[in-house]
Amino acid sequence: MEKENIYILGIESSCDDTSAAVLCNDRILSNVVADQRIHAEYGGVVPELASRAHQQNIVPVVHQALEKANITKEQLSAIAFTRGPGLMGSLLVGTSFAKSLAYGLGIPLIDVNHMQAHILAHFIDEDNHKKPLFPFLALTISGGHTQIVKVSHHFEMEVLGETIDDAVGEAYDKSGKVLGLGYPAGPEIDRRAQLGNPKAYKFTKPKVDGLKFSFSGLKTGILYFVQRETKANPNFVEENLNDICASIQYTIIGILMDKLKLAVKQTGIKHIAIGGGVSANSGIRKALKDAENKHGWTTYIPKFEYTTDNAAMIAIVGYLKYLKKDFSYFDVMATARLKI
Ligand code: KG4
Ligand code: ZN
Repeated sequence: MEKENIYILGIESSCDDTSAAVLCNDRILSNVVADQRIHAEYGGVVPELASRAHQQNIVPVVHQALEKANITKEQLSAIAFTRGPGLMGSLLVGTSFAKSLAYGLGIPLIDVNHMQAHILAHFIDEDNHKKPLFPFLALTISGGHTQIVKVSHHFEMEVLGETIDDAVGEAYDKSGKVLGLGYPAGPEIDRRAQLGNPKAYKFTKPKVDGLKFSFSGLKTGILYFVQRETKANPNFVEENLNDICASIQYTIIGILMDKLKLAVKQTGIKHIAIGGGVSANSGIRKALKDAENKHGWTTYIPKFEYTTDNAAMIAIVGYLKYLKKDFSYFDVMATARLKI
């Protein structure tokens, strides 16, 4: 007998992207993301505005995801949603919507941890993408998190180290603000970094023990550097922007790679995956590719579509939990802080 197909609708609303995706087993049928441009005017995400925009976007985004997948809501097997971590008001929109729809359709509800999803996005079945072999190390780098996680199985994860202050995405965005770039600045710094000299300026790397990260000192170092240089030459930033961006990126990638090397040394695990918004970065992607030859690592780099926040990653976790019949109770609550 042929196996029945499982259709999962994933819903992501933890920060400023409203997203819905439909999976058939572990293959993506659709992945729709509505980003909220409104926050660019404010130089960062405004939680109150984010919740309102989610409320406005959620039905059209889900509708589009179903339409693109060419299935009806009655064909869905279950609904997976982001329970946390994230902004409470944003999470509430996705959670309430997912509950109502699952209840109305009489199908299971599955809660998903956003950070686990950034890692498990690697298990989406894609042509030309190999799935990680267990155990592997995951470097999750986003606007809210910087962690090295040991992944022994899909739901057996241990955080080996994380940031004690800012996340790496914040380091990008805050440095960008100092340089007068728009929000989020990560992609723009990355674009300019590829045109500049990475060794033009030297920034001090933080000294933090073991697998812990710290980025707040770097951010302050960049601020003081820019203030000092602009005093001498008011056009310093405009005249040297590509070199400044390249030097910042070189420092950040150096910090990430140093910690990864230490994690490999400590665990003996040489299979490395990256996830989260900053895993779109060209510098970290290249550094990991180089490490394959240099250090004999096997690296797993996500498709661009699955790096920044998206519902495809929520849906794949939904699918993996569905196989285990790991369903949620309908009184499950959104949680701003949720550990892996
Ligand atoms: O995972 P994500 O979409 O949202 C969070 O869960 O935080 O990550 C967003 C972060 C932002 O800080 C953004 O600047 C950064 O990812 N980002 C990048 C790049 N693309 C996005 N940072 C560096 N280089 C990039 N190419
Ligand atoms: Zn994220």
